[in-house]
Amino acid sequence: MGFLKVSDNCILCGRCVDICPRYIFQIDKTKSKKVIINENVQYCHDCGHCVAICPQDAIVNTRMGDNLDVDFPLVPSNIDYEKALSFIRLRRSIRKFKSELISEEKVKQLLEFSRFAPTGHNTNAVEYTIIIGRDKIDVLWGETIQLMKEVIRKINNPFWVGIAFLAGKKNFVNEAKKNEYRLNSHIINFENKKDTIFHGAPMLILLHTGKKAASPIEDCAIASENIMLGANTLGLGATIIGYFVRAWKHSKKIKKLVNLPKGHILHSCLSVGVPTYNFRRLVPRPEPNISFIK
Ligand SMILES: Cc1cc2nc3c(=O)[nH]c(=O)nc-3n(C[C@H](O)[C@H](O)[C@H](O)COP(=O)(O)O)c2cc1C
Repeated sequence: MGFLKVSDNCILCGRCVDICPRYIFQIDKTKSKKVIINENVQYCHDCGHCVAICPQDAIVNTRMGDNLDVDFPLVPSNIDYEKALSFIRLRRSIRKFKSELISEEKVKQLLEFSRFAPTGHNTNAVEYTIIIGRDKIDVLWGETIQLMKEVIRKINNPFWVGIAFLAGKKNFVNEAKKNEYRLNSHIINFENKKDTIFHGAPMLILLHTGKKAASPIEDCAIASENIMLGANTLGLGATIIGYFVRAWKHSKKIKKLVNLPKGHILHSCLSVGVPTYNFRRLVPRPEPNISFIK
């Protein structure tokens, strides 16, 4: 467990003691008044907070490598409340993309936004599969539509519905019936070559995790949001495609086509590309429903 060390530069300020989520540091008051690393070090998840907060650069974690970005500006000098809020409010789900392909360099830039998203237990287990080009996306679109056709066939078959109810799938049936008109619209649009599933995007980013992730769904959702926000800074737009995540779950064929690493589960899919249109206004949203408990 020698990966974590506190050097003699330590001035006993106690910051590492206060902020470590695994309670690894303690001030040894009885002996030499040093910060000591206790047995909890075995649970260290390399969040890097101790190294990042130490005013003396006295803490070293050799497992974290040397990519500490010491020259990166810590406080963005030109972001105030209004700018930050405006940036967040300007994000839009994009439903019409240009066919323009996105360079691998831009994809890497985009994924820098999700790389620094929080993950449960700092597992950093989100992985990405990037699907590039309409040839591949069209096949996935077709398979998603096939699945929608199958759902419509089933929910209109009284025998199947009866069995589904007995099997406790009442909610699924009711939900599907409620959405039948939307599924039908997607099917008609597919026949007319209008992509209302992936919105004509030239690229999909699939976010998935294996067993290592402590909070797989949340991690992928937060990573997705970071990517969507970051996309705006690169002249790109992105939209979560929940339809495809559902389709992946229910289709062996789609699973085979996207070929995620063994044991991985797809938790999010983003359509990404250059938006065809610019929004001219912000959109309204309801006031937050807040309860203060004092
Ligand atoms: C979990 C989730 C799944 C979504 N799935 C889809 C989808 O399949 N297709 C789509 O066009 N938009 C999808 N959206 C986008 C929402 O419809 C969109 O966020 C909402 O209409 C608000 O618009 P805004 O994102 O521009 O604020 C999804 C959003 C979330 C959070």
